[in-house]
Amino acid sequence: MSDRPRLLPLLTGTRHGTRDAMTCLYRCGNACDHPVPNTSDNAYFGDVVNAEVSRRGVVRAGAVGALVLGFGGAAAGALAGAAPAAAAPAAPDVPEGFGFGRPTPGVGNGALTFKPIPPNKLDTLVVPNGYDHAVVIKWGDPVLPGAPAFDVHHQSAAAQSKQFGYNNDFVGVLPLDKQGRRALLVVNHEYTNEDLMFPGFPGLDGLSVEQVRTAMAAHGMSVVELERVAGTGQWKPVDSGRRPYNRRVTALSTKFDLTGPAAGSAWLRTAADPKGRTVVGTLNNCAGGVTPWGTVLSGEENFNQYFVGADAAPAELKPKLDRYGISTASRYPSGSRKWERADERFDLAKHPNEAHRFGWIVEIDPFDPESRPRKHTAMGRFKHEGANVIVARDGHVVAYMGDDERFDYLYKFVSEKKFLKGNSWAARKHNLTLLESGTLYVAQLDQTSAGEIDGSGTLPADGAFNGRGRWIKLVSGNRSFVDGMTAADVLTFTRLAGDKVGATKMDRPEDVEPSLLTGKVYVALTNNTDRGKAGKAAADEANPRNSNKHGQILELVEDRNDNTSETFTWSLPIVCGDPTDPSTFFAGYDKTTVSPISCPDNVAFDATGNLWISTDGNALGSNDGLFATAVEGPERGHLKQFLTVPIGAETCGPFITGDNRSVFVAVQHPGEITGASVENPASNWPDGDYAKPGVVVTWRLDGGPVGS
Ligand code: FEO
Ligand code: CA
Ligand code: CA
Repeated sequence: MSDRPRLLPLLTGTRHGTRDAMTCLYRCGNACDHPVPNTSDNAYFGDVVNAEVSRRGVVRAGAVGALVLGFGGAAAGALAGAAPAAAAPAAPDVPEGFGFGRPTPGVGNGALTFKPIPPNKLDTLVVPNGYDHAVVIKWGDPVLPGAPAFDVHHQSAAAQSKQFGYNNDFVGVLPLDKQGRRALLVVNHEYTNEDLMFPGFPGLDGLSVEQVRTAMAAHGMSVVELERVAGTGQWKPVDSGRRPYNRRVTALSTKFDLTGPAAGSAWLRTAADPKGRTVVGTLNNCAGGVTPWGTVLSGEENFNQYFVGADAAPAELKPKLDRYGISTASRYPSGSRKWERADERFDLAKHPNEAHRFGWIVEIDPFDPESRPRKHTAMGRFKHEGANVIVARDGHVVAYMGDDERFDYLYKFVSEKKFLKGNSWAARKHNLTLLESGTLYVAQLDQTSAGEIDGSGTLPADGAFNGRGRWIKLVSGNRSFVDGMTAADVLTFTRLAGDKVGATKMDRPEDVEPSLLTGKVYVALTNNTDRGKAGKAAADEANPRNSNKHGQILELVEDRNDNTSETFTWSLPIVCGDPTDPSTFFAGYDKTTVSPISCPDNVAFDATGNLWISTDGNALGSNDGLFATAVEGPERGHLKQFLTVPIGAETCGPFITGDNRSVFVAVQHPGEITGASVENPASNWPDGDYAKPGVVVTWRLDGGPVGS
């Protein structure tokens, strides 16, 4: 071990109480240093509510475990597809999902039997007793045939374009067969940290253009064919044979088609794309979701940091750029990535519309590696954390989405067309168009105990942070419902539309995901230390703590349990923090038995409907981790910590396979501590030398279902 690099002492300052300064710089372009982009006073505007509440008939989505025709005619089915039909039944009205089995009776009632792990600061991945884990794939591993062996000292854009990218975030696992032996791993690569990627890092201005292009190639997505290690919950990449699905999508060269009402609009036209219909690259892909038709959605999040020169953008564009966090006060806002050195389209002084071509939901079909991924303008443009889809009872598909910024909004999209069941090519072709046209809404939340909310987090006398709410219609097809804005305006500058209609300012809405078993929707609200500051929105019942360091989980139940409904109820099942902190709440569960949690970011469900929550920026001093709780029955609120990730990392994914045998997480930015480098790493994970982001799978040693 003599050549093992010395670990950087963990003395360097963190700021904002949670994140290391290096993460602030690279992940979101020092967003916290910039003014909050939402400066609207955003008055209540109840009249905007469209009275025409949908009363559509009830049509069941039918059999779960849809078969989908894959590339080359291979059949792709649900991982749990073998079991379901027989076991089915208890839960009526189960919406369609891809790769999910039918629920078993008593779903979500507290089958989580693992012993929680304690908070810790270990530079390793920690799982409960009785579980094991392994790295599935990590930065630099081969993805495409002919990928050169990773050599940190001689990386190139060409090599990186064939290798697994940096900073894995979203994880989706889509079955390739009914037996659960093969699957496609689809992963986002959100951002790069050049300090930790290039030995002898000379500063962003000192990097060669080839190194900048290498960073661009390390962004994007990867599709990797996996095979199960027989008889276990472990998965590993298929490392021989054709692997026809394996694919890299990058910020450097992958072309995307724009779809929907804003495609081709003047806002999206540039010198290189005068028709405004084709974009090169995707940026800052954070979370995402797997659709019931077997595609993957990916959210373009902090795209603002890649652009410079907004100070010289046309005056009429500046308020729009400012609202998206692109500073118009200087050529180089703090946190700029300096990509204009490699590609002038990132200079808004020259190409002011280029920024509008990012900030969308991307859809990729991993079963067709030749297909061109799309950016769906009908789903609006903001700092998209991700999107998760459910098929409503009447067959329309509904996507729930968060805009991850302090005081920004919660959205949903309802498709114009209906989902077609079955595995015919015609059904698949139809379903691939579902996100191209529909209705976009923004959420407005009412309160039941407004007079009692003082910013302390004290539970109101009625025993709940709760209320009703409504989805305010912004656009339907080509028709705008926002005064003074066309449909293309609303879809391209969705934040401004939300301001106008009085959307509710939330504490950083990140992942938003419906339970496919109950239709209830769960929102991770990460934190908002600006809540209640002078000139900023004060606490309200849905965001009940000023200077909110630890975040909360919001549960949204659509009226009539219809995901197309325009009205809903909401409550906060979990208000995060140390359970000994009186401002925390765990659905009324005995707080002496729950795990401390801080900064919920991504949410997922296992096959029995338990909610899994990963964290980003733990403000309690422990490493980030993954937690789980039942959301129905007597165990609701019994939150238990399942794993922790190494020093400096955030826990992303997560994804639990439909057979409940495997829990995937992405370990993002391990060792991201100010002052760290390849030569002087703050983490040795996973190989004992310098830190590398990677995807991990966890499974039960006895082969049983995870958590039960
Ligand atoms: Fe990329 Fe909102 O976290
Ligand atoms: Ca209340
Ligand atoms: Ca996230």
